[in-house]
Amino acid sequence: MLIDKIEALKGQLAELTASNAEELENLRIKYLSKKGEMAALFNEFKTVSADQKRELGQRLNELKTIATEKINALKETIGTQQKEANKIDITRPSFPAQLGTRHPISVVRKQIIDIFSRQGFTLADGPEVEDDWHVFSALNFAADHPARDMQDTFFVEQDKDDVARNIVLRSHTSSVQVRTMETQKPPIRIICPGRVYRNEAITARAHCFFHQIEGLYIDKGVTFADLRQVLLNFAQELFGSETKIRLRPSYFPFTEPSAEMDVSCMLCGGEGCGFCKHTGWVEILGCGMVDPNVLEASGIDSKVYSGYAFGLGIERITNLKYMVKDLRMFSENDVRFLDEFKSAH
Ligand code: DAH
Repeated sequence: MLIDKIEALKGQLAELTASNAEELENLRIKYLSKKGEMAALFNEFKTVSADQKRELGQRLNELKTIATEKINALKETIGTQQKEANKIDITRPSFPAQLGTRHPISVVRKQIIDIFSRQGFTLADGPEVEDDWHVFSALNFAADHPARDMQDTFFVEQDKDDVARNIVLRSHTSSVQVRTMETQKPPIRIICPGRVYRNEAITARAHCFFHQIEGLYIDKGVTFADLRQVLLNFAQELFGSETKIRLRPSYFPFTEPSAEMDVSCMLCGGEGCGFCKHTGWVEILGCGMVDPNVLEASGIDSKVYSGYAFGLGIERITNLKYMVKDLRMFSENDVRFLDEFKSAH
C-alpha cells in the first residue's frame, strides 16, 4: 500500500546521515533523482483510486518536502564541517624544527677571539693561497728549511731554482703577521684566525688542514713579561682561574727568544694523570719575541719597536676542552658528533 511505503520512507529519512559530500550525493540520487524512491512513489500515486488521491497526494508532497529539507540540512552540516577542517590554525605550534648547531671549531674560535678582544686585540685576515715571501722568507725561514719541502707543504706552484717564486697553501697563519706589518704602522695588536694546510697523512692525530689563531703585538717597549701576562689571562679565561702556565724554551725561525707554553692539566689540575702523561702539564701554543729580522723584513724599525707573537691550534684547544680524541671528527660532519656541542654555544 502506498500509505505504508510513505510512512516507511519517512522513517528512513529521519535516520539519514552522511559524513561527506560523496555519501550525500548518493543519498540525493537514491531518494530525489528521477529514478529515485520519491519518483517511484509519485509513479505509484498515478494508480491510486480517485477517493484516495487527495489525502495521499498531500502526504506525498509532505514527504517530498521532508526529503528535500533533510538532504539540504545534511548538505549544510557537511559544508560547515568541511570549512572547519579547511581552517588553518595559525596559532598551532609548529612541529619541532631540527635546530642546527655551531661547529665545535667555530665555538672554540669564538671563545678565543672573545678573550683576546677583551685584551685589546683586533681581527686580521690573509689569503690561504700565499707566496713564499709571506709564509717563509719574511718570517726568517732559511732557504733550505724543511718546511719548504714538498713533504711538509702543499705547493700550488713550485720553482726548484728560485724559492721566491713558490706559491703555497699557507702552512701557518704567521703569514698574516707579515701582511699586517706591511700595511699597518705600530702599534699593532691583532689576532688572525684561519685555516692552514700541511702535507700530512690523515690520521686520528694529524690532518692535512686545520685551524690556527695567530697573535701579534708590536709597539715601543714590548717585553716578554707582557707576552706572559696576556697568555696567562688567556689560559685562565679559557680553562679556569686556577690554571697555571709555564713557558719552555723552544725554537721558531721568526721569534727570538721562542717558547712553548704549557697549561696545568685540566683533568688532574697538575697532580699528574694519564691524560697529561703524569707530568701535570699539557702543551697549548708556541710564542716568542718577534725576531728583529722579521720586523725589518716588513719595514718596521727594530731599534724602535719590539713585539711578541704567538700561534695556537684551534683543534688542539678544542681537544683539550672537550676531549675529542680523533681529529678526523672535525671534518666528517657526523651530526651525532656535532649534536654533542649543542650546549656549548
Ligand atoms: N707558526 C707556528 C706553527 O705553525 C706557531 C707559532 C709559534 C706562531 C710561535 C707564532 C709563534 O707566532 O711566535 O707551528
